[in-house]
Amino acid sequence: MGLSERIDAAVENAIATGQNGPAPQQLSAALRYACTPGGARIRPTILMSVALACGDDQPQVSDAAAAALELIHCASLVHDDLPCFDDADIRRGKPSVHRAFSEPLAVLTGDSLIILAFDILARAGAVAPDRALQLVMTLSRQSGMPHGICAGQGWESESSIDLSAYHRSKTGALFIAATQMGAIAAGQEAEPWYELGARIGEAFQVADDLRDACYDTETLGKPAGQDDLHGRPNAVAELGVAGAIGRLNDILSGAIASIPSCPGEAVLAQMVRKQAERLTPVIDPARVRA
Ligand code: IPE
Ligand code: IPE
Ligand code: MG
Ligand code: MG
Repeated sequence: MGLSERIDAAVENAIATGQNGPAPQQLSAALRYACTPGGARIRPTILMSVALACGDDQPQVSDAAAAALELIHCASLVHDDLPCFDDADIRRGKPSVHRAFSEPLAVLTGDSLIILAFDILARAGAVAPDRALQLVMTLSRQSGMPHGICAGQGWESESSIDLSAYHRSKTGALFIAATQMGAIAAGQEAEPWYELGARIGEAFQVADDLRDACYDTETLGKPAGQDDLHGRPNAVAELGVAGAIGRLNDILSGAIASIPSCPGEAVLAQMVRKQAERLTPVIDPARVRA
C-alpha cells in the first residue's frame, strides 16, 4: 500500500468509527463528505513520512495519529467556511458542508470530527498508552487555545493582529503537530521536530498566499483572491510575487537543514522538496491580481 492509500484508509476507518450504530443519517453523511475525497493531505503525509524516517515500529499508532490530525484539519475547514467566518460556498471543488447540508449540520460536523480525532487517539492507547497520551497532548496544544487553530482564528476578531502569532497558530500549528506526532508515533522525542514543522508551516503559508493571489477559483477549488478581498496581510502584498517565491525557497532550505538526524533523514528531505514543488504555483504573470 502506498502512503496516500494508507492515509486514506486510516481516515476512512476513523470516519466509520464515527458512523457506527443508529446515528443520524445526514450528520453521518456529512462526516464523510467533509473528509473525502481529501485535499492534498499534506499534514498526514508529513506525519507519516516522519514516522517512517524514525522506524515506524507501531504502524497502527501512526495510522491513528495521521487520521486524527487530518480530521482536525477537515473540521477546521468546515467551520472556517461557515457564514460567521469566511462564508465560502466551495471547498475542494465542491459545495462547502453548510451549502451541501445546512449550517446546523456543518457546526455539528466540525464538532464531531474534533471529538472523533481525540477518540481515535484514545483508542490507540490500548496498544501504546504512553505514545497515545503524548499524541493527545500535542494535538490539543496545536488545535486549541492559546497556541493552536482556535487562537489563530481568534486573531481575526481582534482590532490589531499580531501577524506572526496569527500565522503560527492558524497555519503553522498543524504542521508542528504533523512532525511532532510523527516522531511520537514512532516512539521518539517530540521536541527536536518542532523546528521542521514550524518552518514547513511558514513555507506553506507563503505558498498559500501565492496561490490565493495567482490562481483562479476553479483551479483552487475554493474562493480565490480572499486575502485582498478581506484586506488580510499576506506575503504577496508584502514582497510581490517574485519576492514571495524567493522567501518560500529560503524557508524551505532552512526546513531541510533543520531535519533532526534519524535513519530516514535523506528520504525525508526528498519528501519536503517534493511537497514544496507541489505547493509552489506555476505563475502566469497576466493572471496575478496582487
Ligand atoms: C487549507 O489547507 C487551509 C489553510 C491552512 C490555508 P490545505 O491547502 O492543506 O487544504 P486541503 O486539505 O488540501 O484541502
Ligand atoms: C483556514 O484558513 C484554515 C484554518 C486554519 C481554519 P483560511 O481561511 O486562511 O484558508 P482557506 O483559504 O479558507 O483554505
Ligand atoms: Mg479563514
Ligand atoms: Mg477560509
